[in-house]
Amino acid sequence: MVKLTDTEKRMAGGESGRMKQLAMTLLIDYANALGADRFVEISSVAGGLGGSPFIQDVAEHRGGVAGAFKEFLLNTDDPAPVEPVDTFAFSLISTMDKTCWKAQNVSEKDYRWGMACEAFYKKTGFQCYYTCAPYLIGTVPLFGQHLAWMESSAISFANSIAGARTNTEGTESAGASAYTGRTPCWGLHLPENRTARYQLDVRVPLRDGYDWGTLGYYTGMVFQEQVGVLNGVREGFDMAGIKQCTAAAAASGGVELFHIAGKTPEAPDLRTALGRRPPAEVFSYGENERRLVREKLNSGTRGNIDFVLIGCPHCSLEEVWEIVRLLNGRKLSGNTEMWIFIPDPLRHLAERQGYAAVLRRAGARLMSDSCPAVSMVAPEGTVTAAVNSAKQAHYYPGLTGIETYFYNTAQCIEAAVSGKSQEVIW
Ligand code: F3S
Repeated sequence: MVKLTDTEKRMAGGESGRMKQLAMTLLIDYANALGADRFVEISSVAGGLGGSPFIQDVAEHRGGVAGAFKEFLLNTDDPAPVEPVDTFAFSLISTMDKTCWKAQNVSEKDYRWGMACEAFYKKTGFQCYYTCAPYLIGTVPLFGQHLAWMESSAISFANSIAGARTNTEGTESAGASAYTGRTPCWGLHLPENRTARYQLDVRVPLRDGYDWGTLGYYTGMVFQEQVGVLNGVREGFDMAGIKQCTAAAAASGGVELFHIAGKTPEAPDLRTALGRRPPAEVFSYGENERRLVREKLNSGTRGNIDFVLIGCPHCSLEEVWEIVRLLNGRKLSGNTEMWIFIPDPLRHLAERQGYAAVLRRAGARLMSDSCPAVSMVAPEGTVTAAVNSAKQAHYYPGLTGIETYFYNTAQCIEAAVSGKSQEVIW
């Protein structure tokens, strides 16, 4: 049975308010089911309601967003009014960009739901981040911090690159953590579960984000849900590459944490990363493995590209700057659309810097708050798309039926300008 501190006992007993009591009750059940013997205090929560038809349906029958919020975030239909949260909590990606939802083919009903959620978030103190890359806009996970986050790519980034500690939470547990500031101490919150069991020897150079993404995808294929360590990486990090790597590893295998020997905070060297034990298995990543991943992620067959999609995970300002440089004043093909996804605060910076105007003149769109995989949208009539993200190449064809090429960023820009497919770099 989970042991409670005095503060937690007060929350469970209702002395700290009804919402905290409901949340603590949920978390106690959760902790007991997991076998956790205590809670840890957390620094932030990544969560929110989402926009699935099922959630909207529940809202219709339970008094709107507040009813759905209580049902999904606190597992209750208690009549008590929803109170503001006490822990810093932010919403993950939503199903639309409210400034261009029509271009995204979002229905009027979904738009109204999105706006109702936003109004509700503001009342409860949930920050309307609407991004899968919160670390780009100020919520940077720090070494040793405990978090209660959802969103696989952000979790993999927080654990692996920052050395923060989070399991993959669900809507309900994250919601309850937002009220209590607690999460059960199990899984990746415990140091003994953070050492690597598997080793992947990297035998090829990592030239750009495309190479990092491809490596991440193979990492997920071999580590699956186990903790592993990449050995032999010589290159330094850049944000674009490491974002691609963590997102891809979480997409192909559910990796929540991996180490890079000599690079990441919990892996000063290979031996430490492995907890001074021999690995259960050693894998190799060379030219053949890289080719295998690129064959798997390139489902395109046509010569024409209708749609280029960049920003999975959401772009940094640096990536937008790079896209502007790659465009070099050129316009997109009349037959091709390009959507670039970026956290909303960075879109404002892109406007201020003049990058947004350059992109508009070229015929491209900057979008925020959403992504095609979550919304399952594309410009009307799209048959073939090009992406620079292994994660998006993994999900997009299956979700939308759109055949997809996986290119590096420069190739994506060339595809958008020419409207033609590019030769895959193996
Ligand atoms: Fe983010 Fe959507 Fe990619 S949530 S990581 S842009 S699939």
